[in-house]
Amino acid sequence: MALIALGVTGGIGAYKAVEIVRGLQDAGHDVVAIMTPSARQFVGPVTFEAITRRRVITDQFAPGANVDIEHIALASDIEALVVAPATANTIGKLAHGIADDFLTTLYLATRAPVVVVPAMNTNMFTHDAVVRNLATLRDRGVHVVGPGKGYLACGWIGQGRLAEPAEVIAAVRRVLRPAGDFVGRCLVVTAGPTYEDLDPVRYVGNRSSGRMGLAIAAEAVGRGARVVLVLGPVGLEPPHGAEVVRVRSAAEMRTAVMEHTEEADAVIMAAAVADYTVRGGARPDKLDKDRETLTVTLTRTIDILAELGRSRGERTRPVLVGFAAETHDVVARAKTKLVAKRVDLMVANDVSRADAGFDVETNRATLVETAGTTDLPLQPKRELARVILDRVGALLGGSVRHRDEAPRTAD
Ligand code: CTP
Repeated sequence: MALIALGVTGGIGAYKAVEIVRGLQDAGHDVVAIMTPSARQFVGPVTFEAITRRRVITDQFAPGANVDIEHIALASDIEALVVAPATANTIGKLAHGIADDFLTTLYLATRAPVVVVPAMNTNMFTHDAVVRNLATLRDRGVHVVGPGKGYLACGWIGQGRLAEPAEVIAAVRRVLRPAGDFVGRCLVVTAGPTYEDLDPVRYVGNRSSGRMGLAIAAEAVGRGARVVLVLGPVGLEPPHGAEVVRVRSAAEMRTAVMEHTEEADAVIMAAAVADYTVRGGARPDKLDKDRETLTVTLTRTIDILAELGRSRGERTRPVLVGFAAETHDVVARAKTKLVAKRVDLMVANDVSRADAGFDVETNRATLVETAGTTDLPLQPKRELARVILDRVGALLGGSVRHRDEAPRTAD
């Protein structure tokens, strides 16, 4: 039995949230309801109080509820957060980290898996703003359920109907007991750039946004893996459900990866690790511009992936995956790295293209293995993540289940 927070926002589908509560209770869960002010225009809190047998949270600052900072206490107690119905407004706030009521604050404070169930008018649902906000949430590992097609309260017929309660309950069961081909597996994933500090205010870095590594981490979490995400300095949010170890320099990344390699079934090095760092480390004081030229001596960093390949020796675990971001001779250079670093798979891509590589949502990659190469089409990074994990799953042995196939575990 799990404690589940159900956030109800202001849509006509709010009344259906009552059925969702019932379904979750039938499945043996305890539900705490949170209502936004506009949700209360549609259904009264008393309804939820009666069926959940708990105080309904309607206010961030209700007297008597702040002794243990309720949203923080609840954030660590719950095992899932479900938002149903989720309006375009709430979806926007969740996507952008706006925390102006109890529900949106709870979303930021919890590390529990999140299920969002949109319901709105068709034109609103297909509006670019909503489409992008939902994509942001999905990239972050949030599970989006529906919406379905049908007769809408506004009189339209189209997409926007709140998903059926049974669908929502099935999704909650899946996030509580993740089903997938990576259940029981541990993956170490690196993402982002590393920064090599010159002085307290300046660094040598690179243009990696971390998108590819974050997509792999989100996909792996979604497929049931335990994910240790070693994350360089990035502006993007890591997916819910990953254990995040934040690092800055190549040396810090190496320490974090080595610490977790023992337990890993696979290490996926999607990070753009600096090849050089400042000799002698960062200067303690800010460099003055008192000279015409400045010479900084850089020294080689340790190649983490090559070190993993060496220390693995003849063993087959952990499976090792590297990325080769190239501007010329892409596949040939990736093949050389595959052999030199003794890894199982190199994901090669041409970063000189506008639609692949740094800071874009898409990628066009070639999978390079000893057995041969596979050219992949231009696709969203999340789709590429899925293909890479299919290969990792095959290398680990055992059947691979795709995300949109029915889970193996019965609901
Ligand atoms: N890598 C690493 N440690 C480093 C440098 C790179 O683990 N110090 C990993 C990257 O995470 C990536 C792979 O090695 O998975 C290839 O990185 P890339 O920068 O393409 O190749 P390098 O070996 O650094 O060679 P070069 O920069 O000369 O192309």
